[in-house]
Amino acid sequence: KFVERVFSGVQPTGNLHLGNYLGAIQRFVEMQKSHQCIYCVVDQHAITLWQDPKSLASAIREVTAAFLAAGIDPKAHIVFNQSQVAEHAELAWVFNCVARMGWLNRMTQFKEKAGKDKEAASVGLFAYPTLMAADILVYRATHVPVGEDQKQHLELARDIAAKFNNDFGDSIAANGFNGGFFPLPEPLIQGAATRVMSLRDGSKKMSKSDPSDLSRINMTDDADTIAAKIRKARTDPEPLPSEEEGLKGRPEADNLVSIFAALAGRTVAEVLAEFGGGQFSTFKTALADLTVAKISPITAEMKRLMADPGHIDAVLAEGSDRARAIAAPIMASVKDIVGF
Ligand code: ADP
Ligand code: NA
Repeated sequence: KFVERVFSGVQPTGNLHLGNYLGAIQRFVEMQKSHQCIYCVVDQHAITLWQDPKSLASAIREVTAAFLAAGIDPKAHIVFNQSQVAEHAELAWVFNCVARMGWLNRMTQFKEKAGKDKEAASVGLFAYPTLMAADILVYRATHVPVGEDQKQHLELARDIAAKFNNDFGDSIAANGFNGGFFPLPEPLIQGAATRVMSLRDGSKKMSKSDPSDLSRINMTDDADTIAAKIRKARTDPEPLPSEEEGLKGRPEADNLVSIFAALAGRTVAEVLAEFGGGQFSTFKTALADLTVAKISPITAEMKRLMADPGHIDAVLAEGSDRARAIAAPIMASVKDIVGF
């Protein structure tokens, strides 16, 4: 009874990296074949941490450029930025009144991002997951491709949808909806590289905010920089194993092999069948070549698009109109259901 609809987003917080590409953007491109897709630059999420206004405006365009350069089709699907569709924030308020403090208290991302001084964190950072639930459910989206780090937030979105359906059950039925108003959105976290790790420390995820630029491959890095970062990536002294079992307890090796597999569209087992038993230096050269072959054309296209900000803004404005056309009637029904 729900249209198979995909929603996902990326924050415009600078330093878009290979983890964002493999965990999210590359999957977004793939989903276009089978689903109606809505891809959002989540600028309201970005300001849960301080953003310089000028940098924010250019980061919004950069994420949009990355979406388009990677192969997302803004005509067949929808590309826009969150702040232009007021229904996200409107539904988030309703969800703030559905979600429980205890549920949000359990979110590990808040604990990581708030750091030691939780009292000094913004209220928005704490409520981040209710806005994320609204992002997805304001389109009644059924599938959400994300990296492993977003799994807990997706579970919370399902809990919010279920509680709304339950709390307002009679009103939902009285308004003519059968079997609940919101679908329980399914996370799509599959295949290799759902959690890309830092190139300098196999225990930390590759992240925009890591102070070491060597820890990540940025989508704007040139070919030489990519090759140098892969050459310098931390490894252990053992040769690569021939079987997946042999990657246990070797997070750096596991990470590099997973990156190769995800970029090549192959399984980890297939990659090890080719490179197992060999030296890291040989593998790293192949990985650098593959990464450059995949990422450099996207980088070049991003640069071309970024040179015409007016065009990017027009894509976002048109996407926002089309997103609003889906969200507005859903939000109108929510208001009827709540009794507004
Ligand atoms: P970041 O976590 O880098 O600040 P976002 O929160 O905007 O970026 O995440 C955008 C998408 O990229 C999400 O789907 C997230 O799960 C994914 N992602 C972020 N970092 C990684 C990573 N290291 N490996 C895999 N996916 C990731
Ligand atoms: Na994230």
